[in-house]
Amino acid sequence: MLTTDNSGTSMSDLPEHVRRNRAAWDLWASEYEDEGEAAWTNQTPTWGIWGVPESELGMLPEDLAGKDAIELGCGTAYVSAWLARRGARVVGIDNSEAQLATARRLQRQHGLDFPLLHGNAEAVPYPDASFDFAISEYGACLWADPQRWVPEAARLLRPGGRLVFLTNSFLMALCTPEEDGVAATDRLLRPAFGLYRLEWPDDPGVEFHLSHGDWIRLLRRSGFEIEDLIEVRPTETATTTRYAFVTLDWAKQWPCEEVWKVRRIT
Ligand SMILES: C[S@@+](CC[C@H](N)C(=O)[O-])C[C@H]1O[C@@H](n2cnc3c(N)ncnc32)[C@H](O)[C@@H]1O
Repeated sequence: MLTTDNSGTSMSDLPEHVRRNRAAWDLWASEYEDEGEAAWTNQTPTWGIWGVPESELGMLPEDLAGKDAIELGCGTAYVSAWLARRGARVVGIDNSEAQLATARRLQRQHGLDFPLLHGNAEAVPYPDASFDFAISEYGACLWADPQRWVPEAARLLRPGGRLVFLTNSFLMALCTPEEDGVAATDRLLRPAFGLYRLEWPDDPGVEFHLSHGDWIRLLRRSGFEIEDLIEVRPTETATTTRYAFVTLDWAKQWPCEEVWKVRRIT
């Protein structure tokens, strides 16, 4: 018997990178439970691997009450929970049923209910112009194919709607060694030109990393205007991250994360 996700797509009909990332995130989900639990209890959002406060990054629009929002690659859905608490009608979509199992448990624990869909953010089962706001923190923006998920986000947003995403910086993708658990160095280890899809030798997942020029052209082609690009710096009080791919010393000198803020114009 074929099992399908919430968009009615069976595993065999998914693009190869989506199939691989589904298997990878079903495997990794248990390692993200504690972080998800802690983030669900945060009343004030903090972002990325250094926990930079919302007051510094301004990821969320101020007027979310009554707005329709979607989180693309919601994982344990703490970002969706922050949106729901600010009065948004939020939907989370994620490719991993195991991640969503944690999200559903935390919804029950916190008494917060919103739709959680199992599916691919490159093909979301909602009509055109359903949302005012779309967000992704290391979700679809890192693990889905930008040529597919960016136009899909544009389709889902109403004119004037905003898309905000936070992902690894392109610079860090160039400086990270292939060996698992080794942090980014101060050397460029791979060519920038031609980088798009990135697979690490010891890792089952598939990531996507675009140069700034490639992001700008894709976003504009998809109907977005760019409002901001923030190169994220750890806060003064940041001490450590549990992620081995970068050190605090590196992240204080170069951006290891970047935030894109764009608005749908057409
Ligand atoms: C690092 S988590 C980020 C989510 C959230 N910020 C968190 O930390 O729980 C990455 C998530 O992206 C999801 N993901 C990967 N590819 C996806 C796709 N094509 N569509 C929807 N979700 C996807 C994974 O299943 C995973 O839950």
